Amino acid sequence: MFEGKVALVTGASSGIGLVTAQRFARLGAKVVLSDVNDEAGDQAAEQIRSDGGEASYIHADVSSYDDVASLMRQIDETYGQLDFAFNNAGIEGEIGPIEQSSLENWHRVIAVNLSSVFYCMKEQIPLMKRNGGGVIINCSSIAGLVGTQGSGVYGASKHGVIGLTRSAAIEHAQAGIRVNAVCPGAIKTVLVERVITEHPEMKEMIDNLHPIGRMGEPEEVAAAVTWLCQTESAFVTGIALPIDGALTAR
Ligand SMILES: NC(=O)c1ccc[n+]([C@@H]2O[C@H](COP(=O)([O-])OP(=O)(O)OC[C@H]3O[C@@H](n4cnc5c(N)ncnc54)[C@H](O)[C@@H]3O)[C@@H](O)[C@H]2O)c1
Repeated sequence: MFEGKVALVTGASSGIGLVTAQRFARLGAKVVLSDVNDEAGDQAAEQIRSDGGEASYIHADVSSYDDVASLMRQIDETYGQLDFAFNNAGIEGEIGPIEQSSLENWHRVIAVNLSSVFYCMKEQIPLMKRNGGGVIINCSSIAGLVGTQGSGVYGASKHGVIGLTRSAAIEHAQAGIRVNAVCPGAIKTVLVERVITEHPEMKEMIDNLHPIGRMGEPEEVAAAVTWLCQTESAFVTGIALPIDGALTAR
């Protein structure tokens, strides 16, 4: 399906990003995995190659504009094109009420979750434009759509991701670049495991969060991301797609 296409996934060493990178590879794309966890990223790319796919790993801290610019330069030099970008890397930061959140947490979460998406799109859009189009998917969250208790800073970063997504979609609709956001509910990854380990009192709340009665699987996010890259979804741009078992339908 994606033969001849190049797909970048940030935060690809773990969780949703890893599973999405594997799915892109199964669908025939050449995949660039990027992360700060180099050991896991290298292993993931190696695994994709030994399963018959095409993949490489490039280190980039998405909170650094220089790292992001260098990542995009390396992709341009190696492949000369970028067709799909899943700007997925993110952190949960400190959990707790806004007045107890440290300034350090604010700056870190905004840098990793929001400035990163600006840096990525700033570098990805010219490359995609040069090659006649592409698809960008930014990873937001249900916390980007509604207020959530105890994650106001994270929520602000994820609301910001949707704002950037909508503007970029409008600005580049005529250039053949589609820009969408995905908004997962609680998905079974180490990110959620970390939250539950550090705040066991939140487990019951997270389990009962979704009307569907369970947490989501990373594969369920990956499937939406790759669908958004298919020509079948050619008229879909500028959306923030909840993948949340009806959580935000309440
Ligand atoms: N798991 C959930 O319930 C959930 C729900 C909604 C949204 N999300 C979002 O999905 C995305 C992926 O989360 P996940 O659950 O797979 O988490 P995860 O912790 O399993 O994976 C995140 C990956 O991002 C990488 N990363 C962290 N900081 C980075 C940086 N500065 N530069 C580059 N890479 C960095 C980590 O090394 C890790 O490999 C995040 O943006 C998260 O906010 C997750």
